[in-house]
Amino acid sequence: MKPRILQSARLMPALEARLRSEFEAHPLWNEPDPAAFLEARGGEFEILVTNATAGASASMMDALPALKAICSLGVGCDAIDLQAARERGVVVANTPDVLTDCVADIAMGLLIDVARGLSAADRHVRRGKWLEGPFPLTTRVTGKRLGILGLGRIGQAVARRARGFEMQLRYHSRRPVASSNLVYEPSLVQLAQWADFLVVACSGGAATQGLVSEAVLRALGPQGFLVNVARGSVVDEAALVRALQQGTIAGAGLDVYADEPNVPPALIALENAVLLPHMASGTRETRQAMADLVFENVQSFVEHGRLKTPVPA
Ligand code: DGY
Repeated sequence: MKPRILQSARLMPALEARLRSEFEAHPLWNEPDPAAFLEARGGEFEILVTNATAGASASMMDALPALKAICSLGVGCDAIDLQAARERGVVVANTPDVLTDCVADIAMGLLIDVARGLSAADRHVRRGKWLEGPFPLTTRVTGKRLGILGLGRIGQAVARRARGFEMQLRYHSRRPVASSNLVYEPSLVQLAQWADFLVVACSGGAATQGLVSEAVLRALGPQGFLVNVARGSVVDEAALVRALQQGTIAGAGLDVYADEPNVPPALIALENAVLLPHMASGTRETRQAMADLVFENVQSFVEHGRLKTPVPA
């Protein structure tokens, strides 16, 4: 008999259809009273399929006493209570690697946009401002100093791209990355002080909460730019808004926010911020690859009791 699968978050329609037809996955959101459903039938499900935003809380795991595996669409695991999963012997899979390039592309896109003012210049043309005068001068990217916070797969892909722009590179992370020959900066404040651009590419979660603090932004300085493609939680968002309003930093390119999809109106009002709707992995090709990987993880667990891309316990 096939293990029963519960799907707790919306995925791509084709993936949902595949999970339903091959594994009879049960969509939780169709239940008029999901809590009552879980109370009555939560014990039937061995696999939970979710996404990086919805994640899986300890209370969700408690509601699924037969749970053995969680398969999530997305690389970030900050919304999955990994400790609770470990304690319950539940294994977790995410979708690493397949989205690295698209997220790094968006990091570079945001960096160039905020420095060169692409979005602002587009508004300048559309609003007829060009007829009144030229667009103000912007900031050069090539050859500048790039600090990377978090040198995992995405941070390294950003570094590879930045080399093409002849940028000087340094990074900060919990500890030096042995396989990297980039300069490691043990202090994030010092990295920000050195950098013209600071790209945030580390994991979200408690360990990195508020790492980009007011002090880090002050160190980045009035000529410095912040780019965040990681999680909104890594940056002190209130301090960032103040820094952008007061010109403590020059600008920010953001794909992620503290309380998505609620972007603070104060941030929306700022001309020196480029704001994207958490779309870094959102290309047809990458989302298809992510969907395929979720399916392969479920399939592998059903057939062999092993995940294809397990999150290290
Ligand atoms: C991820 O994969 O973690 C993306 O940020 C989507 O949440």
